[in-house]
Amino acid sequence: MVYKLIDVDSSIGPVGAVVSGVDLSQPLSTECKEEIHRAWLENHVLFFHDQDLTPAQQADFAANFGALDVYPFMKAVDTHPNVIPIIKEADAKMNFGGDWHTDTSYQPLPPKATLLYALEVPETGGDTLFANATMAYESLSEAMRKTLEPLTGVFSPKMVHGSGGDYNSVAAKGNLGDAYGGSAEIAEQEVEHPIIRTHVETGRKSIYCSKPHTHRIKGWTRDESIPMFKFLTKHLTQEQYVTRFQWRKGSLAMWDNRCVFHNALNDYQGKRRHMHRVIVQGERPI
Ligand code: OGA
Ligand code: MN
Repeated sequence: MVYKLIDVDSSIGPVGAVVSGVDLSQPLSTECKEEIHRAWLENHVLFFHDQDLTPAQQADFAANFGALDVYPFMKAVDTHPNVIPIIKEADAKMNFGGDWHTDTSYQPLPPKATLLYALEVPETGGDTLFANATMAYESLSEAMRKTLEPLTGVFSPKMVHGSGGDYNSVAAKGNLGDAYGGSAEIAEQEVEHPIIRTHVETGRKSIYCSKPHTHRIKGWTRDESIPMFKFLTKHLTQEQYVTRFQWRKGSLAMWDNRCVFHNALNDYQGKRRHMHRVIVQGERPI
């Protein structure tokens, strides 16, 4: 792939690339946006370092890739309705996103992109792992792919945000701060999506079901379904599909929820971590 305006280093691991030569706080030319979009589809996650972004600048950059979305379980910052703070205080125990998942896949229209920007990170720890769900899918046996492809998943936030979940509004107030909440009704809803998702822009297939967000395979019991989710998570999180990203203050990661899983490591007890998060609307998974 040839890029004229940006530098794209994809030697960092099985998924993702570090992009340099661009200041995301400024409006971008059509050609530059096109190159970033192409690099994103090619690499699934882009990482930018040394950026200095206000909430509005982060949101404006995200809006180059589609309409901005709203996360149903957290309040936005005062200065922008589409930017939510992800903060783990030094005395907090639980973190946000600390399990393998793609973002809000339990929604009818899950966001296609998430843009996470680091304002304050611990000196060590607090890295995020990314897994290439396309490579992982393509490496399954043909018989396994044929078995999985026709299956529908019943996705729900109830395992994490429902009354028994770790992130339900009562538990979350203690663990994740006052900004966390959300409606109990949304927390129990169920939606159907394919277990294996086809990317509308690339046509490639990826593993899409996950342990925290997929309640069961349609027509199967939950007990029957869980071993399949466990197997697929174990498969896709093998070393050969995973890139570990070390944040610096001013880093921004932009990932494609249609083909990459992520997991926020919670190995920095006693330290504060502060991020800003913007999501871009996606389409119904097919
Ligand atoms: C998220 C998330 C990961 C992190 O913002 O969706 O999972 O490293 N965050 O904070
Ligand atoms: Mn996430």
